[in-house]
Amino acid sequence: MCHVGNMTHSLILLKMIKQLNHKIFHEIKAVADEMQLETYVIGGFVRDLFLHRNSKDIDIVTLGSGIELAGKVSERLKSKPQVHVFKNFGTAMLKYKDLEIEFVGARKESYQQDSRKPQVENGTLEDDQNRRDFTINALAIGLNSSNFGQLTDPFNGLEDLKNKILRTPLDPDITFSDDPLRIMRAIRFSTQLGFEIESGTLHAIAKNKDRIKIVSGERIVEELNKIMLSDKPSIGFKLLEETGLLAIIFPELQNMKGIERVKGIAHKDNFYHTLEVLDRITPHTQNLWLRWSALLHDIAKPPTKKFVEGQGWTFHSHNFLGAKMIPEIFKRLKLPLNEKMKYVQKMVQLHMRPIVLSEDVVTDSAVRRLLFEAGNEIDDLMTLCEADITSKNPEKVKRYMKNFLVVREKLKEIEEKDAIRNFEPPVKGELIMEIFGLQPCREVGIIKDAIKDAILDGVIRNDFDEAFALMMQKATELGLTKKNS
Ligand code: CTP
Repeated sequence: MCHVGNMTHSLILLKMIKQLNHKIFHEIKAVADEMQLETYVIGGFVRDLFLHRNSKDIDIVTLGSGIELAGKVSERLKSKPQVHVFKNFGTAMLKYKDLEIEFVGARKESYQQDSRKPQVENGTLEDDQNRRDFTINALAIGLNSSNFGQLTDPFNGLEDLKNKILRTPLDPDITFSDDPLRIMRAIRFSTQLGFEIESGTLHAIAKNKDRIKIVSGERIVEELNKIMLSDKPSIGFKLLEETGLLAIIFPELQNMKGIERVKGIAHKDNFYHTLEVLDRITPHTQNLWLRWSALLHDIAKPPTKKFVEGQGWTFHSHNFLGAKMIPEIFKRLKLPLNEKMKYVQKMVQLHMRPIVLSEDVVTDSAVRRLLFEAGNEIDDLMTLCEADITSKNPEKVKRYMKNFLVVREKLKEIEEKDAIRNFEPPVKGELIMEIFGLQPCREVGIIKDAIKDAILDGVIRNDFDEAFALMMQKATELGLTKKNS
């Protein structure tokens, strides 16, 4: 057994050494030998080497000055890449081909209660490995000629990689309390890599959850976005909920959890429904904002929830209120307050439209209106809507999917015929004002709406002459006459 283990181990190492054949490692070896500096590649790059994930970020740690080592490595390279020095952190970074290489001196860190910024002093490789977040991120490979390709793995990180376990190198209470961003990183790695968080480590996350308050919103949302972009984002959100973090960083989402029952009638748990929708949408899109739309589509269900006698649970206008809640959520989470946010608002506001449409007879007019309001987002909206059907009743699901197909076909047909997507009315307000000698007023609005409605209802075509004729007819009804006539 042990023999097999060792054999696998040496095969892995062989493979790894092959990876280290990348020219850059040989250049670093030459410089490190010449400067007589013990030097290692460490952290995420080594972890990803074993996981066969392609990583472009390389962390180099040396028992000496990382800044000097970086300078000498740059001098040795043909391209003489610029060395970016971060004096405050004692680090230096250079870019070589598509790689980003960071150099740092091995260090020992000690933390204060109220800050993520440690006091730093020079240390040994062991000190440096001790200060790392997880055993799988503390693996180091020697880069000097005396130990080139040799793995230093003081915490059995390789074993944890094999068993898909996340565990801190030191007492997890220390690791998380020192730098509470690691709480988010643990949940993010677990989601991204499909690793289980070891029970003591998980327990410490829950215990230290309030320490997250000293972490900046930007760092938290960076991790949230990585969770969102994973293959199964629900893993992360369930962990956030179970450990009590969700209530701190995202109370609106936490509020969605739970089932209420009145007179024997229960509503579904909107938190788990939302996560199901998010997972369902994931294979269909790399678009982070479509995934955020899925996460937020029912966010206003708790504040709009009402039990109505004879009807059961209702969530009236939760789509409108949801769209309204988004700017505050985005602001607090440090998400962008630009067109990305507007896109999410639009998706949340319209998320029920295709479903309502498909429940009824699918008329051309209703499809035209949907296309008009959704514009370029129509395909994303349909994807969201289909993911939203999480019913366990196969008959119901079949009916919805069939109707969606009808909606999709109609959308295509109408799109080809009427060019409604991003439709601009063929007769604009300026022209109406010009012809009838008007300033902006109620009548201009009435005529414009009449033209828009007539096109969307299929009464006239999306065509200038037809719109012009309708304008004349409406103007007569309103008692308007042409200027100079
Ligand atoms: N690290 C840490 N604590 C943190 C951040 C980073 O101990 N809060 C250590 C880990 O050893 C990590 C290394 O610094 O592997 C590099 O960090 P970073 O580049 O942020 O992360 P990676 O582990 O490389 O992973 P990813 O690129 O996916 O974030």
